[in-house]
Amino acid sequence: MRHLISMKHMSNVAIYQLFHKAEQIQKGQYRKLDKQMFAANLFLEPSTRTKNSFIVAERKLGLEVLDFTEQGSSLLKGESLYDTARTFESIGADVIVLRQEQEGVLAHLTEKLQIPIINAGDGSGEHPTQCLLDLYTIFQEFHSFKGLKVVIAGDIRHSRVARSNAHALRQLGADVAFVSPEAWRDDTISENYISVDEAVEFADVMMLLRIQRERHSDKDTTQEYLQSYGLTVERERKMKEHAIVLHPAPVNRGVEIADELVEAPRSRIFKQMENGVTIRMAILSTLLEGEIRNENSDQKYQN
Ligand code: CP
Repeated sequence: MRHLISMKHMSNVAIYQLFHKAEQIQKGQYRKLDKQMFAANLFLEPSTRTKNSFIVAERKLGLEVLDFTEQGSSLLKGESLYDTARTFESIGADVIVLRQEQEGVLAHLTEKLQIPIINAGDGSGEHPTQCLLDLYTIFQEFHSFKGLKVVIAGDIRHSRVARSNAHALRQLGADVAFVSPEAWRDDTISENYISVDEAVEFADVMMLLRIQRERHSDKDTTQEYLQSYGLTVERERKMKEHAIVLHPAPVNRGVEIADELVEAPRSRIFKQMENGVTIRMAILSTLLEGEIRNENSDQKYQN
């Protein structure tokens, strides 16, 4: 693995290897950098979880963090994203973590830059690190994806999380169904749409998605959503005993899910965030590992 751009580039073997590494990390069995290395976090769209869990993961591995915001940067003087990334490579960044919404930028960067690029969310495209932490959270619970019934519910069309998860879950052998209002369906992902009332009885994993208000022209799309498509208290009672609820967050409480269910016993929403740090540590150490192997004599990492 040289970059992490799309779940379409990840084999099942690579996914399970990452889980194994995450398990080792959770036991405290990971190597910390012994040499100065830099991670550049370029977040050009808002983020709380992804950005800050990358910062925690990078610091735990001993990476120095180059923080960046568009405000105050030369992007405001018209510099391109490519030149910005190339600048970070030139000044010594060893890895770039990038959230942005321009189509095609990631492919261009991976062709031109020598350092690893991690896609931290590209508009409505993909969100592979979120997908991997979602998969890891499911794996901790069920230990297998074969035949697991997963429902992805919500704003499918605008969701990079849905795109990454739909692909990866099917590749791993899960039985994936979708819930969405007609206007937010994306038939390029699936035609397997069911009602939310069917979904709660079907699902081993109910993955709720945030309504991406910022990507809608009609801002008043949330009225009545909970009753028609969301996880209400009444619906939650009909779920299988062992079923779990995921949401990538941020959560619109009372819209995708009833407020009181966000921290209910079957909710793994905050567990997902905790796993986000572990999975991002596993991803970073995997991407930087080539360099570790090439520089064994340098003892770049120590136990
Ligand atoms: N789940 C997720 O990507 O959250 P942030 O937008 O806060 O990073």
